[in-house]
Amino acid sequence: MTKKLFVKTYGCQMNAYDSNRMVDVLAPEGFLRVDSPKDADLVILNTCHIREKAAEKLYSELGRLAQLKADRAAIDDPFLIAVAGCVAQAEGAEIAARAPCVDIVLGPQTYHRLPAMVERALRGDGPIVATEFPPESKFDSLPEESAWSGISAFLTVQEGCDKFCTFCVVPYTRGAEMSRPVAAVVEEARRIVAQGAREITLLGQNVNAYHGRDADGEVATLADLARQLSAIDGLVRIRYTTSHPRDMSDDLISAHRDVGALMPYVHLPVQSGSDRILKAMNRGHTVDDYRRIVDRLRAARPDVALAGDFIVGFPGETQADFAATLALVRDVSYAAAFSFKYSPRPGTPAADAADQVPETEKVDRLTVLQRLIEVQQRAFNAASIGRELPVLFAKSGRHPGQLVGRSPYLQAVHVDAPTSIIGQVVPVMIERANPNSLSGSLRARNADAA
Ligand code: 5AD
Ligand code: SF4
Repeated sequence: MTKKLFVKTYGCQMNAYDSNRMVDVLAPEGFLRVDSPKDADLVILNTCHIREKAAEKLYSELGRLAQLKADRAAIDDPFLIAVAGCVAQAEGAEIAARAPCVDIVLGPQTYHRLPAMVERALRGDGPIVATEFPPESKFDSLPEESAWSGISAFLTVQEGCDKFCTFCVVPYTRGAEMSRPVAAVVEEARRIVAQGAREITLLGQNVNAYHGRDADGEVATLADLARQLSAIDGLVRIRYTTSHPRDMSDDLISAHRDVGALMPYVHLPVQSGSDRILKAMNRGHTVDDYRRIVDRLRAARPDVALAGDFIVGFPGETQADFAATLALVRDVSYAAAFSFKYSPRPGTPAADAADQVPETEKVDRLTVLQRLIEVQQRAFNAASIGRELPVLFAKSGRHPGQLVGRSPYLQAVHVDAPTSIIGQVVPVMIERANPNSLSGSLRARNADAA
């Protein structure tokens, strides 16, 4: 009998990838994905713990689901609730204790064991808590991915982090850094390209620290991997996210010059423009190191677009430190950037620092930084007007007759065009720029180009 599964994903692209893989792992058990918890027999909340209010959001969602579960229990209809992802990893058994409606709590490294957990929960063995880091890799025990991943697909190649930035939960929730072997990545890439993907974004918390083994047992870098993947017929674009400045090797920088499929867009978080704060964050690099990496990237690929992440109000951050961050942002000039108020994460070193920055100060700094970033993003988009950009068309847009694609620099591009060009890279004359997207038209001679 078909059972129904609803998955709600919070947080990063890696969680989105994990959600799809949980769907894949439950498909052979007869589970079909549905769009509403009301229609489901099993609900999985795939949580994120990186910033504020993750736990509160989870418990209020669980409150709503508990009601649904009670309604279903009244008609003797089983309804299972699983909490997955990084909050599950961080809080473990406490979740089931605080929310008795929860049947399964599972960390990011155990989701290949979901079918057995579901079976046990249905037998009434719950709550089941699986937050250990098992010796086997989940990647070895997952079925082939079944979900249609679209023109632009994600592929996790690396997971975990050994860097222990003092603000970050990832080393605790995702565990030690590990890279998938080259052959496994290439095989998965081939399969998703055979299903129709034209672009693959390689995912990892520290993706440029990738060091998978190749067929000869040698260590392959992310640049080696990109080169191998670029040989796959039909795969026209490769991206990767997120990178750490410390792992931005010469080899990867050169790949941006030499590998045509590698897109000129690098998400390279720096977090702060102050050396004092970078040191307190345990980032392992200086502001100058970062500036030099940016220069080398731009020398290798002059049109490379940069994106960044910033934290304001890290403990001890003064006005002068914050001014240094603004100066760095002005100098680098970002195509896109994500900025956050520092949020103390329980169990991380910075959470216990005495010199926490008051909330009002964090709000003020965030407002100033976001305004600057927005100006840069608008300027970056405006500079595309009048240029012809190769756009990979991915899907239909909101308006009839409209398609949406992406420029090499990850800008969304809206164009009136026939659906027959979905999956193709076609030159588009950019005519208008909005803060978050571009629009333009196909050049007549290119309308049916490959
Ligand atoms: N507080 C605020 N922002 C954080 N990030 C990670 N941990 C925290 C935290 N405790 C941000 C960083 C990181 C991005 C994914 O989230 O900028 O690059
Ligand atoms: Fe977190 Fe730092 Fe690792 Fe990135 S490098 S995942 S911010 S600990």
